[in-house]
Amino acid sequence: MAKFSPREFVDEKISRLKSEIGGETSIVALSGGVDSSVTAVLGFKAAGRNLKAVFLEDGFMRIGEAERVSRVFRNMGISVNVHDVQKEFLSALKGIRDAEDKRKAFRETFYKTFSRIAREEGAKIVLQGTIAADIVETAGGVKTQHNVLEQIGINPLEKYGFKIVEPLKELYKNQVRMVARELGLPDEIVNRRPFPGPGLAIRILGEVTEEKLSIIKKATSIVDDELADVECFQAFPVLLEGKATGVGGESSRKYGYMIALRIVESEDAITAKYVRLDWSRLERIRDIIIRNIPEVSRVLYDITDKPPATIEFE
Ligand code: XMP
Repeated sequence: MAKFSPREFVDEKISRLKSEIGGETSIVALSGGVDSSVTAVLGFKAAGRNLKAVFLEDGFMRIGEAERVSRVFRNMGISVNVHDVQKEFLSALKGIRDAEDKRKAFRETFYKTFSRIAREEGAKIVLQGTIAADIVETAGGVKTQHNVLEQIGINPLEKYGFKIVEPLKELYKNQVRMVARELGLPDEIVNRRPFPGPGLAIRILGEVTEEKLSIIKKATSIVDDELADVECFQAFPVLLEGKATGVGGESSRKYGYMIALRIVESEDAITAKYVRLDWSRLERIRDIIIRNIPEVSRVLYDITDKPPATIEFE
């Protein structure tokens, strides 16, 4: 196979995109990740202001994400419209325990809110940052990725009457990062660790509640800050179901939530190895979590590879 050239990929994609979306209004939903960011920049290079960039604040994103995305794109001369749709997502997920049902509810709410926003923005074409691993995982039946794919005939946005364009669908993550660098995206985007479409909704095992959401958001910020310098594919906390015993004031028993830490190395998310992080770093994260999130009584470390486990817990 010929060596992948990001320069050639960019030139070729921009000229193809010019004919696919150039004269019409199109839209891209940014997530803060590298895939949607690269998709957006390629789209802007092809269509300029005819491409609308939006960020859906669904309530399951990391703390500060909307501001971060807006800042990064503003610095590149691209403005991002942030839409607050948190209420719709929270009520759609209420009472749902099963992981795939949560994904489905999340996906349907995403398509409903996003297609409404797309219509308001006057767009007929949707640019999506689907990459090759999404196709492999979804087609293989492991999990239904939220940016579902036209190849397997289940992209609901088509049913809403939109044309879908997926400029990255033949690329793997490392190639997307090469393209991101070629396009001049900053390191904080190029090296951003993957984040699942349904976001923190699938990092709370079982039913999502506002209390659990607030806990996982705080824990995620702590892990992101503490492990920013660690070279790994993904590093994140998961809020487990149920509660475990801890020691409260005056040696009384108290029940608290359990947080598991997942830190993995991977090339393409198809297989992964857990990272042998220094004990001292694990202990530091444990202390910060316990100190700052009183509802948590235990911090656990996941030492399972993929396979047999998946990277996410749900
Ligand atoms: P798993 O857990 O299947 O994850 O080993 C593989 C990669 O995919 C991400 N992931 C998702 N991404 N929607 C997404 O967009 C999802 O529903 C989803 N589930 C898992 C996961 O973070 C990892 O990078």
